[in-house]
Amino acid sequence: CFPLTSSPNPLFHRFSSCLGGTCVNVGCIPKKLMHQAAVLGEAISDSRKFGWDVQEQVSHDWDLLTQAVQNHVRSLSFNYRRSLMDKNVTYLNAYGMFVDENTVKATDKNMKETYHTAADFIIATGERPRYLGIPGDKELCITSDDLFSLPQSPGRTLVVGASYVALECAGFLAGLGLDVTVMVRSILLRGFDQQMANKIGEYMEEHGICFLREIVPTKIERIEEGTPGKLRVTATSVKDGENHEGEYNTVLLAIGRDACTHSIGLENVGVKLNEKTGKVPVNEKEQTNVPHIYAIGDILEGKLELTPVAIQAGRLLARRLYGGQNTECDYNNVPTTVFTPLEYGACGRSEEKAIEAFGEENIEVYHSSFWPLEWTVPNKGKDTCYAKIICNKQDNDRIVGFHILGPNAGEITQGFAVAMKCGMTKVQLDNTIGIHPVCAEVCIQCSWV
Ligand SMILES: Cc1cc2nc3c(=O)[nH]c(=O)nc-3n(C[C@H](O)[C@H](O)[C@H](O)COP(=O)(O)OP(=O)(O)OC[C@H]3O[C@@H](n4cnc5c(N)ncnc54)[C@H](O)[C@@H]3O)c2cc1C
Ligand SMILES: *[C@@H]1O[C@H](CO)[C@@H](O)[C@H](O)[C@H]1NC(C)=O
Repeated sequence: CFPLTSSPNPLFHRFSSCLGGTCVNVGCIPKKLMHQAAVLGEAISDSRKFGWDVQEQVSHDWDLLTQAVQNHVRSLSFNYRRSLMDKNVTYLNAYGMFVDENTVKATDKNMKETYHTAADFIIATGERPRYLGIPGDKELCITSDDLFSLPQSPGRTLVVGASYVALECAGFLAGLGLDVTVMVRSILLRGFDQQMANKIGEYMEEHGICFLREIVPTKIERIEEGTPGKLRVTATSVKDGENHEGEYNTVLLAIGRDACTHSIGLENVGVKLNEKTGKVPVNEKEQTNVPHIYAIGDILEGKLELTPVAIQAGRLLARRLYGGQNTECDYNNVPTTVFTPLEYGACGRSEEKAIEAFGEENIEVYHSSFWPLEWTVPNKGKDTCYAKIICNKQDNDRIVGFHILGPNAGEITQGFAVAMKCGMTKVQLDNTIGIHPVCAEVCIQCSWV
């Protein structure tokens, strides 16, 4: 994998030549490693309370972290390349575009064009970070695509947005000791359970992250050269139109991602898009409106944008197309985790979505606050961790939503996701014996209120 810094092909972006797509190169993998760096930082300070004599002054080396992360990313990307070769898959590092129903034109980084025909096609072009469209944003701001290989520490950072990508980046940057501000237009973590989202916001604020709420940036200017230099951000309150100004070394935009479906010749083959979102509607067989053209992953309309979802859909699609099988991808009860660096694991519906689906009178919500044992000695976060489950009273108290905020919530949620897949009810949960002393036991002992 050779990240492209310059190519005459304007459609190539920086990680175009890196196999593995967003997740491996500029998503899950570098993100989780940087999350781990933040978690370790916190462990260093906790460890003093457990008797470790750690010097008062500890510092963090951004270069060392990014190099280690990039080395791992490269090795993963290389392994993908090797597995494709082992399986005799032809890999073209080129930009693909439909020219007619059965032909794709591939343009490589040197603008060399080749044409390829096939009976069936699968589109999995993913998404790219969105820009604001305000003066200075493209020239002066970075996105998550740049952050994980940024050549210098971002320094004092403004994160614009409140998506999980925004909060995760803000969380690990603060965890590395940087001064971080998050600028939020409306709510945190749209689409996620809002009670949990607000608890995450409180936790982040307690950990020194400053939130500017109901404010949107309107202009970015460079006021000092250098790496990282200094930027002035002008912003406006969406409530009263009042102007705000702030100075930062780095402005990270994480306001959403746009599906890469507009420059791939879909108009030449008649594949329909949702005009507003650019997303591709598909049926339960991941088939677009053009029967021999399929789509999977982040570009799908109305599906969760997660790596394991894309992988599962792709795997099952390949088996249906060439393996004589007919299993379809089940997009329900997909677990996920937000790392801020405190983890929030969720599976199934948010409380809002459960009310929408079943009616407020037909759901029962059980919840429980807990103080992780490992946090007692360092005496931190007494009111931070929280779990709740949402049951459908009309269906045997089946659990339709699982939410937990606490250390290792991702690891916890994976197991409960299996149980939900098996149709777990409240009685079955209550009849399960816990493991003591672990955080996950809060979900099964009868400590619910
Ligand atoms: C910062 C961040 C953190 C994330 N963390 C997580 C996480 O922790 N867990 C999780 O499950 N998900 C996470 N995600 C989401 C995850 O990365 C995506 O859901 C996943 O990568 C989707 O896979 P995909 O195949 O649909 O698209 P992508 O992985 O985006 O792959 C699309 C590929 O197509 C290439 N491409 C695009 N257009 C063309 C073209 N015309 N011709 C040739 N190639 C083209 C792109 O270069 C890219 O390599 C994260 C995303 C981000 C941005
Ligand atoms: C790949 O091709 C080689 C040479 O044609 C063949 O020997 C090998 O079995 C193939 N491997 C796979 C996984 O199909």
